[in-house]
Amino acid sequence: MAEPLRIAISGLGTVGTGVIRLLETNRDMVERRAGRAIEVVAVNARERHKDRGVDLAPYAWVDDMQAMATRADVDVVVELVGGSDGPALTLARAALDAGKGFVTANKAMVAHHGMELAELAAIKQAAFAFEAAVAGGIPVVKGLREGTAANALTRIYGILNGTCNYILSEMERTGADFDAMLREAQEKGYAEADPEFDIEGVDAAHKLAILAAIGFGTRIDFEGVRTAGITTVRASDIAQADALGYVVRLVGVATLEDRADGSHRLLQRVRPCLVPFRHPLAAVTGPTNAVVAEGDFAGRLLFQGAGAGDKPTASAVVADLIDIARGQVGAPFSVPVGQLEACVEADPGERVGRDYIRFTVADRPGVLAEITAAMRDADVSIESLIQRGRDRDGGEVQVAMVTHEGPERCVTKALALLEGSPSLTAPPLAMPILKD
Ligand SMILES: NC(=O)c1ccc[n+]([C@@H]2O[C@H](COP(=O)([O-])OP(=O)(O)OC[C@H]3O[C@@H](n4cnc5c(N)ncnc54)[C@H](OP(=O)(O)O)[C@@H]3O)[C@@H](O)[C@H]2O)c1
Repeated sequence: MAEPLRIAISGLGTVGTGVIRLLETNRDMVERRAGRAIEVVAVNARERHKDRGVDLAPYAWVDDMQAMATRADVDVVVELVGGSDGPALTLARAALDAGKGFVTANKAMVAHHGMELAELAAIKQAAFAFEAAVAGGIPVVKGLREGTAANALTRIYGILNGTCNYILSEMERTGADFDAMLREAQEKGYAEADPEFDIEGVDAAHKLAILAAIGFGTRIDFEGVRTAGITTVRASDIAQADALGYVVRLVGVATLEDRADGSHRLLQRVRPCLVPFRHPLAAVTGPTNAVVAEGDFAGRLLFQGAGAGDKPTASAVVADLIDIARGQVGAPFSVPVGQLEACVEADPGERVGRDYIRFTVADRPGVLAEITAAMRDADVSIESLIQRGRDRDGGEVQVAMVTHEGPERCVTKALALLEGSPSLTAPPLAMPILKD
């Protein structure tokens, strides 16, 4: 059997200790599949003496990231610290610069610095892998990079944040409002104490930017992801959607459009959407993730599973290590980094589709006429309109509508016409209806 693959692990929290446990539990099987043993040589975290429930005695403890990255007895550095910059990035740069393989679960860092790290990996001919950075245990990075490599993908979309999906599907199940379900998600450990990155859609945007780059062969453009979170979704929106045949999910959608000159335009968006009951994403509940990729030859593919947790995420990290041990190291973003296309952003106003729009309005005559006049003036055609009864104090009512198919710019124009109207007592919420 070949020499072992020697690894250093930085970060011994949920995922780091999960990787150590997996390598202990499945040691023989991993060795058979990798063709050689995978041995932990060195580890670090912030607090050396914390009880982590795993035996760290056999491994060297190395406080300094630079020293960790350059140890002569380490082949691959595994970063499980987190954060887009700071120690994780220092470690990534140092490890790749030293020609070591580098494996990470850090979507924030890959979304922000993935191009730089891939360039460094290419120069140093070092492995750079991040299966665990997108959708935890679901092998979607490998699926897109290898399984669909023969396809032109035109759309990649999915439920990329388990916290939001838990909150929305629990709102749907219980009828409770957002704040109550966020508190419950925090109590059950599905949401961080500071949940902003999750509920504002930033975490999903990190993952979408990475998937788009791999699936389309384009340069990562995290700044280009148009992002809206779920904090404005009300229990009444979910009830309304249900009555119309939809569920509400936070969906990240990336589309690639062909241009006449052979170049492409990229549109990346994360926002709450209405998903038809019959669509496979509608059945995805709780903290589960799911990704759909549409290929010209493979058709529609669905990847679904646990998007987080120590075991699923460790499974993805070790899958990368097995690839490296086997010598199977391809371009991290499916084509060599120098050949990734820098895309112009597609105009979101050109998206043709149907939308759900909810207005909260003062309960007085003429308000509905004002809204429908704005729709008419902006060329938005209304398919159905539902006005809910007065709230308890009779002050405001909710008006929801579904539009006929049309360009998104018309809806944007209608909302602009109504901006500042004293009839609107809260900002309206528009959610697209996901196309099959
Ligand atoms: N948790 C998941 O389910 C999941 C899923 C997919 C991807 N990820 C990604 O995996 C990474 C790790 O997540 P996690 O949930 O395992 O985080 P975590 O439980 O908070 O663990 C982070 C670890 O990093 C260590 N650390 C923090 N700052 C450090 C520093 N300056 N130097 C050395 N070590 C430092 C911490 O040390 P101490 O323990 O001593 O404080 C801790 O062991 C993140 O990038 C995350 O986005 C996580």
